[in-house]
Amino acid sequence: MASVSDTLRMLDPSVRPDPYPLFAQLREASPFRVQNLPAAVIARYADCSAVLRDPRVRSDRTLSQLRRDTLQGTGAAQRDGHVASSPMFLFLDPPDHTRLRRLVSKAFTARIVQRLEPRITELADTLLDQRASARTLDVVNHFAYPISMTIIRELLGVPVEDEARLHIWSVLASRALDPSAQTAARYTGDPAELQPSGVALISYFDELVERRRDAPGEDLLSELIAAEDAGDKLTRAELNSTCVLLLVAGHETAVTLIANAMLALLRNRRELDAFRADPSRAEAVVEETLRYDPPVQFVPRVAADDIPEMNIRRGDTLIVLTAAGNRDPAEFDNPDRFDPMRKNNHHLTFGLGAHFCLGAPLGRLEARVALTRLVQRVESPKLTVDPPPYRDHVDLRGPAHVPIEFAEILPR
Ligand code: HEM
Repeated sequence: MASVSDTLRMLDPSVRPDPYPLFAQLREASPFRVQNLPAAVIARYADCSAVLRDPRVRSDRTLSQLRRDTLQGTGAAQRDGHVASSPMFLFLDPPDHTRLRRLVSKAFTARIVQRLEPRITELADTLLDQRASARTLDVVNHFAYPISMTIIRELLGVPVEDEARLHIWSVLASRALDPSAQTAARYTGDPAELQPSGVALISYFDELVERRRDAPGEDLLSELIAAEDAGDKLTRAELNSTCVLLLVAGHETAVTLIANAMLALLRNRRELDAFRADPSRAEAVVEETLRYDPPVQFVPRVAADDIPEMNIRRGDTLIVLTAAGNRDPAEFDNPDRFDPMRKNNHHLTFGLGAHFCLGAPLGRLEARVALTRLVQRVESPKLTVDPPPYRDHVDLRGPAHVPIEFAEILPR
């Protein structure tokens, strides 16, 4: 049995730049229950895949013994403020999950998302133009963040003047969402300390919904309001939390995908040159980044029943370590090599089953377009700090900055 300290090493910031040697150890030992905790780690590819499809496994965190222990006495559950809120559908099981997901999924089909390509291209090119005389660029803050935030903001129908405050709340809320915050809190402090950003976001959307109800636009929020008005399909609380989910799930992840891809390319110059010479490699570069250095490292689940074949007990929190599964040598040849040309790249990074990432077509498109423009137009890019600084997040792990120097930015 792996000890609690082996698993908690995941929380150690010094592991952040390269968690994969630790993940390999955890994978070797997995599946295992964490000593003295109602939690288990699942890290082999086949086990991750089986658990994510297992009907005994749920997304509803209120079933988790660890969560009950952690929240006991903190009052965190009562600190939701006075606005209407309900759990995001990421944390729901059928039938509520099915109903809410169906309403939103119409807006995220590959065909609809594809229409955003010219807008993403325009954004990427404008941002590159703005850096032309600077000779330096932070791939995260000057490029990936503004692209991803603008796209999700425009999709939702959030006014541009609200972007700055939304950005701050969303960064904090994504930290609060990071399942590590719950576990870490047990050892380091109060899990409720990050709650206010979530409340601020819910309140913000609650007000915006009122404004859109009076003056609908051509955006997703107005469509969801129409669905709410058409029947009892979506309560006000569900509407608010769905907006927060789309905002938070929709931009931090895409930012990290772009940043991690550029990082891998800068460290593998031959792949960078090959991509530059042949932009049709964009899809392969994005898929390999999703496998090799994923923006989401694990997905949390709860066992609603005993799973004896994996020594899992009812109420256990399950850390399904998909980033370790993606590097399982039983599944991928040379798994630690960044190789966009590998065949059959069936990574687990968007999850599996009922909760498979709704935004996958959007995230993929943003990354493909943004990276193509970046690689085509930035001449002789060099990483100035390696490894770059990382954010605190354990699950939504990614670099805080990817600073590069370059010779010039070519015209469009
Ligand atoms: C580009 C990188 C992205 C990655 C790696 C990623 C990863 C994931 C993963 C692993 C899940 C499943 C979580 C689970 O099973 O518990 C998920 C769900 C989800 N993602 Fe993404 N995501 C990305 C981009 C996006 C984007 C751009 C959006 C757009 C809004 C989005 C919206 C969602 C939503 C709404 C869910 C919940 C689906 C459900 O519970 O049914 N994601 N994502």
